[in-house]
Amino acid sequence: MNEVLKNNKGLSLTIGKSLFKNPVFVNSGTFAGGVEYNAFFDISKLGAVTTKSFSLEKKEGNAPPRIWETSSGMLNSIGLQNEGINYFLDTQLCKMKELGADIILSIFGCDTEEFKKIAAKIKTIEKELKAVELNLSCPNVREGGMAFCAAPGQIGPVVSEIKNIIDVPLIVKLSPNFNTIIESAIISKENGADAISIINTITGTAFDIETFKPRLANISGGLSGPAIKPVALFHVYRLAKEKILPVIGMGGISCWQDAVEFLIAGACAIGVGTANFINPVISEKIIEGIAGYMVSMGFSSLDEMVGKAIKES
Ligand SMILES: Cc1cc2nc3c(=O)[nH]c(=O)nc-3n(C[C@H](O)[C@H](O)[C@H](O)COP(=O)(O)O)c2cc1C
Repeated sequence: MNEVLKNNKGLSLTIGKSLFKNPVFVNSGTFAGGVEYNAFFDISKLGAVTTKSFSLEKKEGNAPPRIWETSSGMLNSIGLQNEGINYFLDTQLCKMKELGADIILSIFGCDTEEFKKIAAKIKTIEKELKAVELNLSCPNVREGGMAFCAAPGQIGPVVSEIKNIIDVPLIVKLSPNFNTIIESAIISKENGADAISIINTITGTAFDIETFKPRLANISGGLSGPAIKPVALFHVYRLAKEKILPVIGMGGISCWQDAVEFLIAGACAIGVGTANFINPVISEKIIEGIAGYMVSMGFSSLDEMVGKAIKES
């Protein structure tokens, strides 16, 4: 174990009032039920485990098939299937706590009211959470069915209402499918958000050339994995340069070198997603890889390396 890892301080960071032991998080929806990967490595070593996004009620999601592997990524149309926030509160939370996981709870609603009801439910356990991440990709049914992040004006009320209810750092997760990331980040900050996480998946599709049928029953899905890394990196770099809020970078990170690239592009922390499906211990390897890189480059804290590429460009 090298010095940066041993004293742990070198890898730590804060978002809002929460201290994270290192900058390696796992992404919502890509880490099973938050505990299963403990069979492969000690998940308490992670900076944070972001849960699957929970809505107020259980959701069945889209019809199968809903996963298609592409040449350099994965298309999914899971459709936000989840067991509902009560499942997290009654069952999942204590399992994750038993394993010592630091938790970022991801939630979504289809209007501000649903978000508020979820926030009221999590109020009682807010001390157990490092942060709450708002997944704003659900179509807002009351506002013409457009996703919140497609219309930055709708983000403000969601963030401020939740901030009024819970006292937990708030992360706003944005989609690259609309060219509104900067505007949305500004509105998020004005309404009390503590960080932005980017990117969610990029809309894509695939067809079978023999049957002419779409590979996904939903026709379109979200592309993730190595194919989206340059796009994600660009959005992280562009947003971090604006210094609006701390940026958690994700999209195609598959090895420690990818993670370092996001950190030097300005991300304060990174998220590992699709790579967990390929190598279940990759996140642990990424923590070790970042620490080794910091030692070899003479960095004694994350602050010394975050944004290095911004300064050089
Ligand atoms: C199967 C699957 C399910 C996902 N479910 C969610 C979700 O519930 N909430 C969310 O905010 N993002 C979800 N995502 C998006 C990821 O959290 C992440 O933003 C995206 O996949 C980019 O990172 P990656 O390329 O490392 O996977 C999901 C992604 C995948 C592949």
